[in-house]
Amino acid sequence: MKTIAVLTSGGDAPGMNAAVRAVVRTGCQNGMKVLGIRRGYTGLINGDMFEMNLRSVSDIIHRGGTTLYSARCPEFKTQEGIDKAVAVCKKVGIDGIVVIGGDGSFRGARDLSLNGIPCVAMPGTIDNDIACCDYTVGYDTAMNTIMEMVDRIRDTTESHDRCSVVEVMGRSAGHLALNAGIAVGATTILIPEVEFDIERDVIARMRATQKTGKKHFIIIVAEGVECGGVENLAKKIQETTGVESRATVLGHVQRGGSPTVRDRVVASQMGNYCVKLLQKDIGNRVVAMQKEKIVDFDIYEALNMKKSIDLELYKIAHEISI
Ligand code: ADP
Ligand code: F6P
Repeated sequence: MKTIAVLTSGGDAPGMNAAVRAVVRTGCQNGMKVLGIRRGYTGLINGDMFEMNLRSVSDIIHRGGTTLYSARCPEFKTQEGIDKAVAVCKKVGIDGIVVIGGDGSFRGARDLSLNGIPCVAMPGTIDNDIACCDYTVGYDTAMNTIMEMVDRIRDTTESHDRCSVVEVMGRSAGHLALNAGIAVGATTILIPEVEFDIERDVIARMRATQKTGKKHFIIIVAEGVECGGVENLAKKIQETTGVESRATVLGHVQRGGSPTVRDRVVASQMGNYCVKLLQKDIGNRVVAMQKEKIVDFDIYEALNMKKSIDLELYKIAHEISI
């Protein structure tokens, strides 16, 4: 392949810039022309792209967000949208594309590959919810951000003998909540993958720890959990236990910020690997990390895999946070 392009798509994640840097530098070092597409599939459809060189990616390795910008592009889910994108690729002479995003973006990459534009996708999402992949770029930074934020919440929660109910991101996956929850010593962690009962898993646990002298509580709730919202949960806890309770939705603070070492390193490895695949004319692949090694899968296969939550960790969290 002579000309490749790179885009970031879906929810942004810390480390996306490090990945773009790796893609651009690997491409340029290997004699390829590299185009940066702005705003994901929207930019591809609109032909919003520019040629990048070694210096275009200077001073971005440490920056959160994505300097290529991101977008959600409903049009790309239609055959018409795909056809427009393919036409742009043909016109500009794009031989292959590196897609950095989550599983939605991977579906787009699969469709483009099926329509004759080879794509290699790599996981950039804070959720760590990609089945074929032990680790997604952005996850470590987000977990550390959550930990820092909840540590602060803990200071004030403890000072007032309160209960803080904190909602963390993870659309339909509890990996962030579980790992951050264990790191902040949450009394209870509610995640979508594990069935729960408010009376048994929140109220009774609080009462049991109260008997041992505990006066303040942190409850971590993953965004995807159906509990009527953290405000209502905090109200219910206050009414039932008498412990003054507050709700905090951490929100987009979790998605920003400078990437951690782990995110920068994994993003650099994966970005480099993506280009090496395209260089060998290999497309329709997902680049992933398994047991600390970078590997690749057929996109279709990758999208059909299922990821489970670490139930052992869930058990440990609740055994020791008492
Ligand atoms: P993420 O990549 O973080 O999972 P989304 O699910 O929002 O984020 O997907 C990002 C973009 O990928 C969508 O806006 C759309 O353009 C494209 N996409 C998502 N699902 C599909 C699909 N089933 N077919 C084709 N493109 C898709
Ligand atoms: O997929 C990443 C993520 O941050 C999820 O954890 C969250 O549910 C979603 O994106 C929120 O997306 P947005 O606010 O950008 O629509």
